[in-house]
Amino acid sequence: MSLDRYAVIGNPVTHSLSPLIHRAFAKQSGELLTYSVIETPIDAFEARVAEFFDAGGCGLNVTVPFKSRACDWVDCLDEYSREAGAVNTIRVTKEGFEGFNTDGIGLMRDLERLGWSPRNARVLILGAGGAARGILGPLLRASVRAVMIANRTPEKARHLADQFEDVGWAGLDKVGGVWDIVINATSAGLDGDGAIVARERLRNAYCYDLYYRSDGDTPFVTWAQKVALGASDGLGMLVEQAAEAFRIWRGHKPDTDLVLQRLRRHA
Ligand code: ATR
Repeated sequence: MSLDRYAVIGNPVTHSLSPLIHRAFAKQSGELLTYSVIETPIDAFEARVAEFFDAGGCGLNVTVPFKSRACDWVDCLDEYSREAGAVNTIRVTKEGFEGFNTDGIGLMRDLERLGWSPRNARVLILGAGGAARGILGPLLRASVRAVMIANRTPEKARHLADQFEDVGWAGLDKVGGVWDIVINATSAGLDGDGAIVARERLRNAYCYDLYYRSDGDTPFVTWAQKVALGASDGLGMLVEQAAEAFRIWRGHKPDTDLVLQRLRRHA
């Protein structure tokens, strides 16, 4: 009997937690499948994806730096991946290859789990790159009261804000106001001291870092914990986006709490 085959493709990807997470999901329901890691040279992405599906693969997760190229590779896009310009999940059907982006849904579910509902919240997003773009649509659909993008290069914040309705923008050093949720979507949160924006902006806020580290808190979380009402890294979002990919492939949503607890214990 051949097992259903899944994988994550990226570069670098060898430290990805996705195999662990998906195998744990499959174990919950006794499903027989394999989930592997494909690290591909930058110029070979499309060829490796085609090879994987030609050999009978059922679904792929796509990670850095290929999410936007995956958008061009698939035959059709769901609304989230179209909006984000990035695909992190590919499913094959008789009709062709479908692209999805589950990152934004993953963030929404983790915010709800933490009790930091974005509904009616004033949300400040730090950063204007691909990670920020991927969460804007889901946040706006969650009936937030206000969203602002603050970026080191203000022009990029404006460019991104212009692609959505009712999204404000500012330079990181100029942003004012009171915020309920502050989301770090800059890659600056991984090194440095984590102080990305004036600390006053955090006083009334719950802070969420889209990133996580396997060896402890991110600098942004460590810094935010001292000032904000609460702070969390993005490990929960990682598990939730994986659960949504699993649902797309397998038709049912696995239990995420158990898997997240296990990952935290091993962190
Ligand atoms: P990703 O796809 O992960 O979002 P990206 O598209 O390269 O990556 O975007 C990185 C984001 O982090 C950008 O918003 C970048 O700000 P600039 O547009 O000004 O470059 C932000 N960033 C990276 N290093 C930073 C730093 N040291 N301080 C503040 N922002 C930083």
